[in-house]
Formats: sequence, C-alpha cells, structure tokens
Amino acid sequence: MAGRLAVVGAGLMGAGIAQVAAQAGWQVTLRDLDDTATRRGLAGIRKSLEKFASKGAISPEDVEAALGRITLTTELEAAADADIVVEAVFERIDIKHEVFRALDKICAPGAVLATNTSAIPITQIAAVTERPESVVGTHFFSPVPMMKLCELVRGYKTSDQTLATARAFAEEIGKTVVVVNRDIAGFVTTRLITALVMEAVKLVESGVVSAEDLDTACKLGFGHAMGPLATTDLTGADVLLNATKNIYTETADEKFFPPELLQRMVTAGDLGRKTGQGFYSY
Ligand SMILES: NC(=O)c1ccc[n+]([C@@H]2O[C@H](COP(=O)([O-])OP(=O)(O)OC[C@H]3O[C@@H](n4cnc5c(N)ncnc54)[C@H](O)[C@@H]3O)[C@@H](O)[C@H]2O)c1
Repeated sequence: MAGRLAVVGAGLMGAGIAQVAAQAGWQVTLRDLDDTATRRGLAGIRKSLEKFASKGAISPEDVEAALGRITLTTELEAAADADIVVEAVFERIDIKHEVFRALDKICAPGAVLATNTSAIPITQIAAVTERPESVVGTHFFSPVPMMKLCELVRGYKTSDQTLATARAFAEEIGKTVVVVNRDIAGFVTTRLITALVMEAVKLVESGVVSAEDLDTACKLGFGHAMGPLATTDLTGADVLLNATKNIYTETADEKFFPPELLQRMVTAGDLGRKTGQGFYSY
C-alpha cells in the first residue's frame, strides 16, 4: 500500500510518525512552521534511526533509505498529492481548525485526513471541513518508534472506507490498532488511565496508602509496568489534570472530578519529572 504521506507538525509525535512511515517505505512530506522546526524534527529522526542501527535492529543503509524518503517543507500545499495526511500540531482546537480548513481546500478528493489529537473530539475537528467522512483519529503513543499501539478513533461522520484506509496505514507502519467506535472524551486509553490515576490520587490524598505502596500494588498485583502515580509524573500532572477536567466537563461523571491534591500540585508547579518533583523527587 505504501504511498504518499504528509505529516503536519514536526514535533515529538509528527517526527515519530514520519520516521516509522518512511521506514515502511512511504514517501513522507514533513511540514512545520519554519526551517528550524523541520530541521529539529529531522535531527530527532536521524538520532532515533541511528540508535536502532547501533543496536543492530536496522542497517546503516536502512537509516539513509528512510531519511531519503522524507522531504521537509514549510508549505502546507505540499500535502496536495498525499494519500494520507496526519496532523500532529499543538493540542489546540483553534490551531487544528486552521490546519483542517486549509487541508480541506488543498488535499485531493479521497485523501484521508487524520489527526493525532490525544483528547479533542474528532467530530469537532472534522466539523470545519466539507468532508467529515474523510477525517479520522490516529492516536499514536510516545515514543512512536517504540510504542506499538494506534488508537483509531471514529468521528461521528467518519466513513468505513476512511477507517479501513487508516487501519491499513497504521498496520503497515507496524502498529497494532484498536478501534474506538465513538469519539467519546478521552477515547479509550485516556479514559482508562485517567480513571485509575484519579482513584489513586484520592487513595493517597486520604491517607489510605502511600504513593510508593500504591504503585507497588499496581505493579506486583496487576503486572503493570509502571504504577499510576509514576505514570503521572512521567506524563505530567498538568496534562492529567487537563485531561480529567475535559472528560468531567463532557460527562459530569464524578469519578473524573480532579482531587484537590492533584489541583494543588499543579498550582504549586510539582508537575513530575519535568519539574523535578511530583509524587516522587527526581
Ligand atoms: N507527546 C505525546 O506524548 C503525545 C501522545 C499522543 C498524542 N499527542 C498529540 O500529538 C499532537 C502533537 O503533540 P507533540 O507532543 O508532538 O507536540 P510538539 O509540541 O512536540 O509539536 C507540535 C509541533 O507542531 C508545530 N505546529 C504548530 N502549528 C503548526 C501548523 N499550523 N502547521 C505545522 N506545524 C505546526 C509546532 O511548531 C511543533 O513543532 C498533539 O495533538 C498531542 O496532543 C501527543
């Protein structure tokens, strides 16, 4: 199937998606706002590929071949001949709307317009286009070259054809797909981790258990690779707070109402690894 892919946004996720697609034989156009951003994206891809090569997972020729399939651009018009476009810009609805309005005008009829949003409803993104049936969520995980999952999210009007094309693409670039049949807030993965984290924070907040013991319980009791509070530190307490607030706003389900402890941690700047302090010190 390998064809032409345009990736909009050369940040952490966009670069990762461009990398795995190029490795799978896709011709990739990687777009960001300026040359500094696109070059930074490409440098990250080179570094990642070279790491795989140094471990013997791919050959030096594979590294150059993959890099040779990636073209950098600052022009969104470069997406005109893409079979699939994956948008991976900042998680802001105004910016995503601007990108999708433009893609709707630029892209060929039948092109699949995918978004890598982690939480914004696909239906809301698709609504600014004249072709909501062609819009789908492809939720990849970080770091994309390592993480096998792609959560494929169906918007209210996503067609079967669009879903099938997006699935074939994700599988061809080495991912295992799970299909989310309705684009509920948080999709499936964020719903699950958010529910677990909020309950974990409540148990720690009320003195039932220490953060360390709670994480140990999840690791040794359930076989989780990482406890929910260590996960919160890695993801960022602010990111989890924002996610749970969004889900709560849509569902009014009290299990997603953020505990005061999480709110105060974010206000105080204890966001986790990125600030050196969260549920643990770093
Ligand atoms: N980081 C994660 O772990 C993760 C996981 C899953 C999904 N996501 C989602 O993926 C998307 C991207 O996240 P990220 O972590 O790569 O962000 P990032 O901040 O690393 O990169 C975003 C990039 O988009 C660029 N950009 C902004 N506006 C643009 C435009 N109009 N056209 C082209 N480029 C533009 C920025 O310059 C930046 O390079 C977000 O929607 C995020 O929620 C992130």
